[in-house]
Amino acid sequence: MVGADGTPNFAPPNPHYRSLMPTVLITGGAGFIGSHVVRRFVQRYPETTIVNVDALTYAGNLENLADVDQAANYRFERVDIRDAAAVQDLVDRYQPDGIIHLAAESHVDRSISDPMAFVETNVIGTVNLLNAARTAWAGAMEGKRFYHISTDEVFGALGAEGFFTEETPYSPNSPYSASKASSDHFVRAYHETYGLPIVISNCSNNYGPNHFPEKLIPLMIHNIIEGKLLPVYGDGKYTRDWLYVKDHASAIDTVYHNGRNGETYCIGGWNEWQNIDLVHLLCRTMDAKLGRPEGDCAKLITFVKDRPGHDKRYAIDATKIHRELGWKPSVTFEQGLSETIDWYLSNETWLRNVTSGAYLDYYSAQYGA
Ligand code: NAD
Ligand code: TYD
Repeated sequence: MVGADGTPNFAPPNPHYRSLMPTVLITGGAGFIGSHVVRRFVQRYPETTIVNVDALTYAGNLENLADVDQAANYRFERVDIRDAAAVQDLVDRYQPDGIIHLAAESHVDRSISDPMAFVETNVIGTVNLLNAARTAWAGAMEGKRFYHISTDEVFGALGAEGFFTEETPYSPNSPYSASKASSDHFVRAYHETYGLPIVISNCSNNYGPNHFPEKLIPLMIHNIIEGKLLPVYGDGKYTRDWLYVKDHASAIDTVYHNGRNGETYCIGGWNEWQNIDLVHLLCRTMDAKLGRPEGDCAKLITFVKDRPGHDKRYAIDATKIHRELGWKPSVTFEQGLSETIDWYLSNETWLRNVTSGAYLDYYSAQYGA
């Protein structure tokens, strides 16, 4: 389309407009994982219109997409998924072929202090999207796909042995994981009850560029840069499986295009770390990168009050997605962590912008400092 002055006109579609290009709505695209998914889809699928749907909460940041936001196949829609009418209007206007749903409240510690926000966005917001998709796709479900991005935390906690698989019963322990479990159940129920074409994936902990510094890895990197204490919860012997965010984005691409209708896929990094060992690794790597004497950053480690209901261990058996769809992680933890630290060291403005204002209030409420 070309406007009167000859410049390309990429105005959003009106109710009578139907793009000939396939359209995919990606919710939560201004957040950590969502921004990597949006970038990947915008760059790899120029013949598909990618609509980033995000309310821009404290965790959403359009700076994350500054390198692709001028692309011809990119749109942004500021929509709060808690608003059922706004969600229906959006889906009616775009008539998407697919919805990849990442928008969520995502931080366990915040869910402990404000569970209702997690019910509203993660549960009600998801049901609003399901209702809108069901209405828009009524009678024409063929070729459509509603892809719900979930977490391994829905399975609860593991002991020293074993892995979560697609068969593991749900047993969420935090308000965050309970809200994600609930939304997973709604997605599955819409498939069983209304035949909505869905797929779900449950992924382990992600890390990488653009991660908001309230989660373990970016919080520690930020505090090391600032020379602040490194707060390790409890005895630090909690275990998480870590996956580089770009590998999660490639898994999402794979599942979106090739996953089987109605199925669940577990996604993980085969990469378990106890928190305290991980923090020591970060300290050693940052001593070297910052030219500080060996052992300098580790002096900042401090053990603080434990998180209530803290899950002991998460670990994923990602055999199904590997066997059925051929996906596996592409980078080692050392490579991914090194790239991540380099990104934070060379994106000081991003870090400064997200850690001013409301972040300081959150930090002092959570850590008393
Ligand atoms: P994030 O907190 O960085 O981003 C969430 C995004 O959702 C933000 O851009 C925010 O503005 C948007 N959002 C929040 N509430 C909204 C609302 N009501 N309406 C519209 N947009 C809203 O989260 P993330 O870490 O990128 O996680 C993305 C998804 O992946 C979540 O569903 C999360 O449960 C899941 N997940 C995350 C991890 C992880 O390690 N971070 C692991 C597995 C699964
Ligand atoms: P987090 O990044 O919040 O992810 P999740 O709780 O979803 O796994 O926390 C990862 C682990 O790090 C978890 O065991 C809690 C711990 N942790 C700390 O020890 N200190 C911190 O300041 C934070 C944020 C987390």
